[in-house]
Amino acid sequence: MTAIEGIVEHGDRRGRLLGFPTANLTLADEAIADGVWGALVRTKPGKWAAAAVSVGRRRTFYGDNGPRLLEAHLLDFNEDLYGREIRVELLVRLRPQQAFTDVQSLTDQLHHDVRQARAWAASNYPGLVSAEAEPAAGDPVTGKMSYA
Ligand SMILES: Cc1cc2nc3c(=O)[nH]c(=O)nc-3n(C[C@H](O)[C@H](O)[C@H](O)COP(=O)(O)O)c2cc1C
Repeated sequence: MTAIEGIVEHGDRRGRLLGFPTANLTLADEAIADGVWGALVRTKPGKWAAAAVSVGRRRTFYGDNGPRLLEAHLLDFNEDLYGREIRVELLVRLRPQQAFTDVQSLTDQLHHDVRQARAWAASNYPGLVSAEAEPAAGDPVTGKMSYA
């Protein structure tokens, strides 16, 4: 399991516009692989939330030259985390980073990521998230997700 601790910084606030606000940490450790993860975030001592987490350069907006960031979209959580020290545990890798051709495609994928992260958290940490608002896109017959 990979864990990162740091002080939450402001993003460029686009996440709020897209409907996915994030708590951002800069990444010093190059050993942490780019990707999108289901994660747990400790927001204060003893207090945890589930999250969909992006590690990468936001290539949709910044090409290959953006700063590497960790961005956590916390589920069922709406406190301002700016300036707080958080711990992020990356627990299940959902997909690689992608450069999307337009913002709508990125937003569609973010909806999918968040549904997947919620389904993962609901079955592993049921106390942390409410049940799914909409069915996850899993197997059409069983509804089961796979996290290859
Ligand atoms: C779960 C999740 C997955 C993401 N995946 C990608 C991605 O594949 N490609 C990309 O360019 N940005 C990705 N992002 C980053 C978004 O582009 C970024 O959150 C958005 O631009 C807002 O940035 P800001 O918080 O700095 O305002 C992802 C963000 C989240 C929360």
